[in-house]
Parts: sequence; structure tokens; C-alpha cells
Amino acid sequence: MIITVGNTKGGVGKTTIAVNIAIARAIIGKDVWLIDGDRQHTAQTAISIRSESGVEPGISCASYPDGNTLRAQVKQQVGKFDDIIIDAGGRDSTALRAALVLSDIILVPFQPRSYDVWALEDIASLIDEARSVRDGLKAYAVLNCADPGTKSTDNEEAAAAVADVPQFEYLPTPLRRRKAYSNAAGQGLSVLEYKPRDNKANDELKALISILF
Ligand SMILES: Nc1ncnc2c1ncn2[C@@H]1O[C@H](COP(=O)(O)OP(=O)(O)OP(=O)(O)O)[C@@H](O)[C@H]1O
Ligand SMILES: [Mg+2]
Repeated sequence: MIITVGNTKGGVGKTTIAVNIAIARAIIGKDVWLIDGDRQHTAQTAISIRSESGVEPGISCASYPDGNTLRAQVKQQVGKFDDIIIDAGGRDSTALRAALVLSDIILVPFQPRSYDVWALEDIASLIDEARSVRDGLKAYAVLNCADPGTKSTDNEEAAAAVADVPQFEYLPTPLRRRKAYSNAAGQGLSVLEYKPRDNKANDELKALISILF
């Protein structure tokens, strides 16, 4: 399965979620390829830190900020992997557009703030374009950095906001704002590996992954 974690809005947690999904799938034995489609190479850096520390499983990771290269490479290598997870950068880019037409799923993280919700309209138009050449692209919006305190209201409001953007299906598996995500990322780890273990972060990530796969 090819999943793009993308949003034209920056800083919503794309890299964090892409790295966590890739590692979680590798932990259960899948052949995973993480593609960094962002010129900032954040995902690639996290995976480099991981491999320099010798953490297993190792994650195959490549950087293709150029859309044409990304498209050509994914088409060539797709049969070799169970899962390809693409972290597309935080803007409309050739990499994001190329990733969209290759993907089975686009997962769009957004934060529970007005600007993020408005930005869904922006990426929705890219999804329309991709669907005109790529039938069956599923588009899921998921809340990230949701407030750990106000459980249900956040979620309900987010679901209602996404309902206004018909291109998306809202996934009721939010990731909440937890230090474990940022601490783990800095060490090239997923929250599943990070110690001290954050059980809530583990459960949230697993819930998201089980709905995706
Ligand atoms: N659920 C979370 N809880 C706490 N911190 C988080 C969470 N998700 C992301 N972060 C932190 O928020 C910041 C932005 O996340 P990240 O880099 O993954 O976003 P991004 O969408 O990839 O950004 P960019 O658009 O710059 O590529 C990082 O410092 C990350 O550690
Ligand atoms: Mg990023």
C-alpha cells in the first residue's frame, strides 16, 4: 500500500506521523520504504539518526523532493515493498502532486485550529485534481496535536469541520499532543520504541494504523 502523509499546511505533524507509521509497519515485519519528499529532509534525518544508533529494524529511506524523480523511482520500486510511506513537504510541490497520483491513501494531519481547518480546502483541490487521473484515491483527515484534556469536544468539532470538506473522510483516531512523539522523533524512534513508554501515545498510533491498514 502507498500512503502519502501530506498537507499544504506546514508544521501539522506530517513527518512525525510518516516516520511513526513506517517504523510501526517495519516492527511487524513489513518491507517498508519511507520516502522523504520534502526539501528539508526531516524524515531522512530522523532515519539517519536511527541507523547511526544501530536501532533495529532499519528503515529504507530515500529523499526525492523532485516530483518527476519521485514518480519514476516509486513506479520502478513499488513491487519490492509491502508499504511505501511518503512524507510530502508542507506546501504545494511537484513531490506532493506526484505522490498523490501514485498513492492509495492520502492521510492529511491537521491541528484543531481554524487555520488548519481552512487549509483543508486547499489540499482538497489537489485531491480533486489527483482523482481526475487516479481513480480511488482515499483521502483521510486526522487530528494531530489534539489537546489531551478535552477529549470528545475537540474530536466532535474536528469531525464536523471535516464534514464540510466532502473530499475527506474524518478518521476518529486522533493523535494527541504528547511529548513522546517529539522526543521519539528526535532519536529516530517511533513512540512504540521510545522509553519511558507512553501508553496513550502507543494506543493512539496503533488505532490510527489499524484503521489505515
Ligand atoms: N502529536 C504530537 N504531540 C507533540 N508534538 C508533536 C506531535 N506531532 C508533531 N509534533 C511536533 O510538532 C512539530 C512539527 O511536526 P512535524 O515536523 O512532524 O510537522 P510537519 O508537518 O512535517 O512540518 P513541515 O511542514 O515543516 O514538514 C515537531 O516539533 C514535532 O515533534
Ligand atoms: Mg515535515
